[in-house]
Amino acid sequence: VITFEAARPSDLDTLVSIDGHSETPWSEAAFRNEFKADEPTVFVLRSADGVVAFAVVRTLGSDMDIVNLAVAPDHRRRGHGRLLVRSLLGKSFTEGITRVFLEVRAGNVAARNLYGTLGFSETQTRRGFYRNPTEDAILMARNTGQKTG
Ligand SMILES: CC(C)(COP(=O)(O)OP(=O)(O)OC[C@H]1O[C@@H](n2cnc3c(N)ncnc32)[C@H](O)[C@@H]1OP(=O)(O)O)[C@@H](O)C(=O)NCCC(=O)NCCS
Repeated sequence: VITFEAARPSDLDTLVSIDGHSETPWSEAAFRNEFKADEPTVFVLRSADGVVAFAVVRTLGSDMDIVNLAVAPDHRRRGHGRLLVRSLLGKSFTEGITRVFLEVRAGNVAARNLYGTLGFSETQTRRGFYRNPTEDAILMARNTGQKTG
């Protein structure tokens, strides 16, 4: 059984460890800061083995930004990324959020495919936005109420 829920402060080490495999990992302090917000900003997929995926979001009015998201390397290609994004879309929709935004490195084929198959469109390119290595950012967006994906 896998549940989608807000992260707990006790998940901190696992979040840092999962994100450590991403191209631009967040510091432990950055994750710890998320737990100071009034509303949850970190959501996880939790299995019997513990947290297998997480997403960090920012909500402003009717918009939501996914600012960080990763699946534990040993659990990739099993639909967790798709389940996590679908769960976020469903939760946002019920809370009156109409549009979800995110940005990905141009070379991140896995993420671009994940979001593309979920109905996100590529709306803009920011040349040389990322560092180490320098790379374009692709902005993607999707309406929460949309039927496709
Ligand atoms: C991108 C990421 C979240 C995908 O998670 P995942 O659980 O492996 O994804 P899913 O199993 O749900 O895959 C959904 C679809 O995404 C695409 N996809 C996922 N991994 C892929 C890969 N390595 N290569 C190509 N396409 C891929 C496929 O279209 C896949 O559908 P399919 O398995 O039916 O072919 C994961 O690779 C990850 O954590 N990467 C590092 C962090 C990162 O890049 N985060 C996103 C930054 S915005």
